[in-house]
Amino acid sequence: MKIKMKGKESPSTCKTCAKSSSCSSKPASGECKDAKSAEKDAKTQQQDARISSTLSRIKYKLFVMSGKGGVGKSSITVNLAAALARKGHKVGILDVDLHGPSVPRMLGLSGNLEGNAQGEVSPKACGENLYVVSMESLLKDPDQAVLWRGPMKTSAIRQFIGEIQWGELDYLVIDSPPGTGDEHMTVLRTIPDALCVVVTTPQEVSLADVRKAINFLQYAQANILGIVENMSGLICPHCSKEIALFKKGGGEELAKKYGIEFLGAVPLDPITVVAGDVGKPVVLMDEPSPVKDALMALADTIDNAAQSSLEAHATTRR
Ligand SMILES: Nc1ncnc2c1ncn2[C@@H]1O[C@H](COP(=O)(O)OP(=O)(O)O)[C@@H](O)[C@H]1O
Ligand SMILES: [Mg+2]
Ligand SMILES: [Zn+2]
Repeated sequence: MKIKMKGKESPSTCKTCAKSSSCSSKPASGECKDAKSAEKDAKTQQQDARISSTLSRIKYKLFVMSGKGGVGKSSITVNLAAALARKGHKVGILDVDLHGPSVPRMLGLSGNLEGNAQGEVSPKACGENLYVVSMESLLKDPDQAVLWRGPMKTSAIRQFIGEIQWGELDYLVIDSPPGTGDEHMTVLRTIPDALCVVVTTPQEVSLADVRKAINFLQYAQANILGIVENMSGLICPHCSKEIALFKKGGGEELAKKYGIEFLGAVPLDPITVVAGDVGKPVVLMDEPSPVKDALMALADTIDNAAQSSLEAHATTRR
């Protein structure tokens, strides 16, 4: 007596993966689930390769983050980037704040990114040595709110890094949304050598947010470059003298407590808001101001800290 063997009788192998047994779903196209996931893996691998190739041509990646919004991440990002560019470095800004991108406005940029004939997309040039990519450049209506779920954010950020012609850069400064969400995780996973700059205000220091942000970075084994205290003391618009509106120095104390470097304090100066609104970073303004001096000094400190951090890494790898 012959026993009929189901599979053998009609060996309908999948066109693409050439498997017959595990092909539970055989759609009309003749491709099975395995073939589809293999294709997806191949695509992810190709993108991984493009991301590593992009990142290998960028010397330092600075990730500007904080526990909450409104502490000045975007202001620090654009001024730091502009100051580093003014010092002669080639600098890129990547704005991964998908919900509230403010970098283009602070730099007076508008319009979408355009590709060349080969379909390659380059960042927007902003004066000399400065190149910008923001989520806003992918949106037709800049006022439109973006409601994105985690995986879409991850995919957008990976594309921002892998599919854009960043070229050779000394610095890539990454602006982030408040908190410690999908965007932060994606940046830290995609750019393991990112150097994190934690921004806080004197008031926030007493709150749990900034400690939560530091704990998150330590948990994620991220490289923390240091802490910046923004809105540290108020510059009086009348006499330009400093008023200690909130208790200063908390950022430095916090840095000590966590064994993290304190990178500098930036005073609260109404000129920063004006500059942001006219689309010109304070550090590029001609008139001197205490906040400009502070931001330029901060850029110098970060420039040095980034260099020594890379040297430290080189020694530990040896
Ligand atoms: N040092 C400062 N002095 C005065 N205003 C500032 C300073 N830093 C930031 N601001 C203002 O505070 C607001 C929030 O800053 P922003 O950089 O957008 O914060 P975040 O990106 O953390 O949400 C903006 O209007 C900005 O112009
Ligand atoms: Mg911001
Ligand atoms: Zn005064």
